[in-house]
Amino acid sequence: MTTDTAPAWAVVFEQVPRAGFIPDTIWVDDPDGPGFTAVSRRTDPSAWEAAVAANAPVITQINLGEPATENGEDFPSSSSSQPSIVADMLDALDPRPGERVLEIGTGTGWNAALLAHRVGPSGQVTTIEVDPALAETARQALTAAGVAAEAVTGDGAAGWPAGAPFDRIIATASVREIVPPAWLAQLRPGGRLVTPWGTDYGNGALLTLDLDADGIASGRFSGNLAFMRLRSHQRSLFGWEPDDDTVAAAEVAATDVRGKDLDMMLNPEKGRFAIGARLPNVALVVEWDAHGPGRHVLELDDLITRSYARLDADVTDPAPFTVRQLGPRRLWDEALAAYDWWHEHAKPGPDRLGLAITDDAQTLFLDTPETVVRTWP
Ligand SMILES: C[S@@+](CC[C@H](N)C(=O)[O-])C[C@H]1O[C@@H](n2cnc3c(N)ncnc32)[C@H](O)[C@@H]1O
Repeated sequence: MTTDTAPAWAVVFEQVPRAGFIPDTIWVDDPDGPGFTAVSRRTDPSAWEAAVAANAPVITQINLGEPATENGEDFPSSSSSQPSIVADMLDALDPRPGERVLEIGTGTGWNAALLAHRVGPSGQVTTIEVDPALAETARQALTAAGVAAEAVTGDGAAGWPAGAPFDRIIATASVREIVPPAWLAQLRPGGRLVTPWGTDYGNGALLTLDLDADGIASGRFSGNLAFMRLRSHQRSLFGWEPDDDTVAAAEVAATDVRGKDLDMMLNPEKGRFAIGARLPNVALVVEWDAHGPGRHVLELDDLITRSYARLDADVTDPAPFTVRQLGPRRLWDEALAAYDWWHEHAKPGPDRLGLAITDDAQTLFLDTPETVVRTWP
């Protein structure tokens, strides 16, 4: 396998091959248009094998198990994650022989098998999957591979109280802003939780939390991850959109933001994570080259207050970009304030942010817990 697998896991990856857990039908980007096309191990074994051997995610289910659509409006609903990211997450989790581990998001069962290999026969891995068909396929793959992990079906947002307490908990589906309190309640003091964490504006990052003896969990973010969401943490980015007449009647202004600012606001390697973390409940949709090369459309919306902003940015034209805003919140102004904050704080990436969780609140901080960026609830 062509990965930069974290060294501690390289041997485990060799002993628990991914191919044993990937179903015969996988999904790849349709070369002829939007959406996905199926690749079958039986009819196109070389394409299947190349996809499974690559250091890339393999999509194993689309549309929650429903058939591909005619119009290409398909979405991936389960995958085997990119192996180098799997290794980074396992490295962050750092499970030890003999430990009890809970995984949320069984998918193919491969990650559970890697975990089971590491904790050994004196440990225990429980993995929970919300989709009953996926859970059943994973159970069969685990049995076929002779792996003793317990694969259960249910909503992993509630953890798995029957198996608690756990020494380690790993989610392989992302949370949106709030770490489910049930996970921390099922972690033993001194235990560790690893989960992808994201907002509807930003991409995600990996969050590694350690629980102390007083019941306070704290830790830092790292990396830049785009992960599938836990089902209950998903939000349709197209859940509400004002019609053209409403947008036409919105407040119109010019903005002095230029293309280079847009890059910093939208680039996951730059400001996107921190800016998203500053913007409660704001989803971002960007349509690059929507009206031709360099003519982008950026939309921000908040479904709760029904606020909306739209930026028409023509980076080929020196004229200022146009912003339309409507609803009780001025979302573009808020995004600009967050962008200014990011500059004022020396452009922090995810690794300068952390999260501290008590029984009452989840607090996002910059550099040290004293510098609060945002608090939930
Ligand atoms: C990226 S895949 C996980 C990959 C998996 N760990 C593997 O090794 O193949 C994310 C999985 O999380 C599952 N999922 C989403 N929401 C969930 C929930 N609330 N509880 C349990 N599983 C969930 C999805 O159905 C999907 O199979």
